[in-house]
Amino acid sequence: MSFGKILTLSSGTPVPQIGLGTWQSKPKEVENAVEIAVRNGYRHLDLAMIYENQDEVGAALKKVIPSVVKREEMFMTSKCWNSSHQPAEVAKELDETLKQLGVDYLDLYLIHWPVAFAPGNGLYPPHATKKGEVDLDLETSLVDTWKAMLALPKSKVRNVGVSNFTIAHLEGIIAATGVVPIVNQVEAHPLLPQDELVAYCKEKNIHLTAYSPLGNNSIGEKKLTDEATVQEIAAKLNATPAQVLVAWGVYRGYTVIPKSVQEERIISNFKQISLSKEDYEKITALGKGRHVRYNIPFRYTPKWDIVLFDEPEEAGATNKVKIA
Ligand SMILES: NC(=O)c1ccc[n+]([C@@H]2O[C@H](COP(=O)([O-])OP(=O)(O)OC[C@H]3O[C@@H](n4cnc5c(N)ncnc54)[C@H](OP(=O)(O)O)[C@@H]3O)[C@@H](O)[C@H]2O)c1
Repeated sequence: MSFGKILTLSSGTPVPQIGLGTWQSKPKEVENAVEIAVRNGYRHLDLAMIYENQDEVGAALKKVIPSVVKREEMFMTSKCWNSSHQPAEVAKELDETLKQLGVDYLDLYLIHWPVAFAPGNGLYPPHATKKGEVDLDLETSLVDTWKAMLALPKSKVRNVGVSNFTIAHLEGIIAATGVVPIVNQVEAHPLLPQDELVAYCKEKNIHLTAYSPLGNNSIGEKKLTDEATVQEIAAKLNATPAQVLVAWGVYRGYTVIPKSVQEERIISNFKQISLSKEDYEKITALGKGRHVRYNIPFRYTPKWDIVLFDEPEEAGATNKVKIA
């Protein structure tokens, strides 16, 4: 069985280049998906408290560890949710995640978003007066949370990093602590290539992980797997469109975490194909003059009234990230 290509983080920790995403993997689906994935060679799982399915992931892990893999052969990422950004909450939520998963440690723990919510009132604390909006904590800074992440014991978390951070957010936490995150996990696909951020992370030795590599079409856009260019290249290479999109990310040298709960897709998404420079460039050209960011929390329900990415869709947001 092939376990795929392995990359190395700046800490020296090896990370399999393709991992299984688990967002929107429903209970009853995710246990099966994780078990299928591990039995078919996946050794990298992307998890989070907010996916509200970590206990099921834990049930799947019990079925495969140690009978199929040893814990130390797996690379598991989880993420600290926005309602636990306050320094005292960071360690508490990590313990809850470890309990849900039934493991002693994570290979990577990320600050999920550069946004703090009010603690102690659920994962999406409702705003007291503004209906349909989440209650933001505008006092806890990214630096406060980053320092709390750095204080987590190595015995529970091997590497710490961030997610959805822009260059300005990264610069802020690095300037305040002198500690560079090991990973930044961000949305990246041909319609959002993130060239500037990719170059910045490379220069700083921050490993980039691409989420929504198939362009999760939750906002009703045409699916990237349905793009004619992607389909033509797939047909030529006797591959699936999803394999072509994963290969596009692999070509750029970072880790890619496609999500599926369907057996055939889980298996085929993991089979690496390689793209010629010419095909890579044809797919890259899809993003010329077209810019699509699927994940913009200002248009989520409930709404997060905060500017994160300076996208036009965030024009009506009234709050800014407190970096330091
Ligand atoms: N850090 C963050 O804030 C953040 C945000 C978003 C995502 N993520 C992580 O990144 C992972 C991947 O991103 P994503 O879930 O947004 O999107 P994605 O992996 O780009 O796309 C997932 C969608 O594509 C479908 N799909 C999977 N394989 C396919 C194939 N071979 N052909 C056609 N369609 C296919 C899936 O449906 P089926 O399941 O039915 O196959 C699902 O609807 C997430 O699961 C999560 O772990 C992180």
